[in-house]
Amino acid sequence: MRLISLLVGVVVPFALLSCRSAGGGTKLDGWALAIHGGAGTLSKNTPPAKRQEYEEALTVALAYGRERLARGDSALDVCEAVVRILEDDPHFNAGKGAVYNEKGEHELDASIMDGATLRCGAVTGVRTVKNPISLARLVMEKTRHVLLMGDGAEQFADSQTVERVPNTWFDTEHRKRALDEVLKERASGGAMAAPRSVQHGYGTVGCVARDNAGNLAAATSTGGMTGKRWGRIGDTPLIGAGNYADGWAAVSCTGTGEQFMRHVVGRTVTARMEFGGQTLEQSARAIVADTLQKDDGGLIAVDRDGNLTAQWNSEGMYHGLADASGRFTVGIFAK
Ligand code: GLY
Repeated sequence: MRLISLLVGVVVPFALLSCRSAGGGTKLDGWALAIHGGAGTLSKNTPPAKRQEYEEALTVALAYGRERLARGDSALDVCEAVVRILEDDPHFNAGKGAVYNEKGEHELDASIMDGATLRCGAVTGVRTVKNPISLARLVMEKTRHVLLMGDGAEQFADSQTVERVPNTWFDTEHRKRALDEVLKERASGGAMAAPRSVQHGYGTVGCVARDNAGNLAAATSTGGMTGKRWGRIGDTPLIGAGNYADGWAAVSCTGTGEQFMRHVVGRTVTARMEFGGQTLEQSARAIVADTLQKDDGGLIAVDRDGNLTAQWNSEGMYHGLADASGRFTVGIFAK
């Protein structure tokens, strides 16, 4: 069955696939970088000035990553640093600006992975760590574990030099309004009560990179879904689901985490390449268009040759792509 689905992925004409994309690859030897700021975006009708705000925020993060990779920094270091920038930016659902759970609090998830060694680290349900991605990196480097949760992760943070903040530090007005809307709709049994509801529902930030030495890395961080049950864990901290890197490709996902968990999306992108002979573009596109359902979200990915892709099946996805050939684009919607 699995073989059939892989073969179907290879032969289905792209014209039949229903997803939006940016990128598409040219092979190159140098560095390559992709970022995302989540698939739960503004609507296309949003005034241009508001859209521009988000594009500028993406540009800052992408330009920083470009500079670091161009001067020879490692993919792992760059992914962590770029995700920190996105975590600190209240426009995006990670770190400052993270969504609220149903209790009106923030529980943050993050993970990071080094494609060359398969070393990885993750945290889930952290409440006082300003930059969860850096704690995830410390789990990778300073423990023999992959994933630490809640109180255990916070206690580990106590022993490390990571900046701590009260949970209210993550508060923002726009996320509070989104929670109020979700809770109101939920109380009246409206559309926003649906677990797969995209509007206000989700967002994540992520970065994937190939460095000049050819190593790949992926980093992803999120506040999860607005109004989520407390204790809910999504795909972001689960290695292989929302975040993955190996010798084939590095992948960072955004969207309804439960769907990305069911389909183990991160690793499936690279497995289709490894066992099915697909290109990065074919693999990512087939998963987003065929395996996932409309409005589930999207992903960014880079392969070992420096090919980049961004695919989504929601209305938009905040994204940016850059590489050593001079490419530098940010966007929200398909052109
Ligand atoms: N994709 C982020 C989440 O579902 O938590």
